[in-house]
Amino acid sequence: MTSINPEIKIFSTAEDTAENLAELFFKKSENYYRSKKKLYAAISGGNTPQIFFNKLVEKYKEKIRWNNICFFWADERCVAPTDNDSNYGMTKRNLLDKIQIPAENIFRIQGENDPLKEAVRYSSVIKKHVAERNNLPSFDLTILGMGSDGHTASIFPDQLHLLKSNKICETAIHPQSFQKRITLTGTIINNSSQIVFFVTGENKSKILADILHVSENSKLFPALYIKPVDGSLSWYLDKDAASNL
Ligand code: 6PG
Repeated sequence: MTSINPEIKIFSTAEDTAENLAELFFKKSENYYRSKKKLYAAISGGNTPQIFFNKLVEKYKEKIRWNNICFFWADERCVAPTDNDSNYGMTKRNLLDKIQIPAENIFRIQGENDPLKEAVRYSSVIKKHVAERNNLPSFDLTILGMGSDGHTASIFPDQLHLLKSNKICETAIHPQSFQKRITLTGTIINNSSQIVFFVTGENKSKILADILHVSENSKLFPALYIKPVDGSLSWYLDKDAASNL
């Protein structure tokens, strides 16, 4: 059953928002552990998640059963893992290096590879490891950010076809920097059981209002089209990002 209205949670600061997202992650991981299920999570990169990762380490480093969690990425820049631009590299510095998580639970996109080949490779990795729902791999939790142009993962406004692709991963190109990317398609993202957007900052407030109120020009924004086919959708926002709602 498609989620009719997304859950919108607004917190005073980016830090409060990150803290509540970390609590959601902890509670979900506990539920999966008690149900003897591994939690398959797809996470995003950019800057916003860093504060979330810091909160996971600060509050839950010893509490979360990391061996019961598998991390995948919603997208990656086509750079080496040691490159400052690498989403995996950022996650490694802020989270993975600070927790006891088995290496085999980390499924990074190999940004150093040929993009087309890596999109195929990563699609097969997801197909192999992530359980299916609706005949497609289904992440238990997908945490997304949103760019100030309304993009999410690496689905940009000029590449809306990636939303409905019948593939698991596709290559993409950043419209300004022309940096090559690998991204989950909207098809796979929308097949997640739970999707949470984590968005902070006044610079996103206008686009966010357009998307959440579905205004006329919101049709240009990829984040508008993120609607789980039969799962839950939440927006974790700080007051600045929510200032135009
Ligand atoms: C990426 C991300 C991307 C990110 C948004 C927001 O690779 O850049 O996955 O989708 O979530 O661009 O980025 P900020 O958090 O830096 O604003």
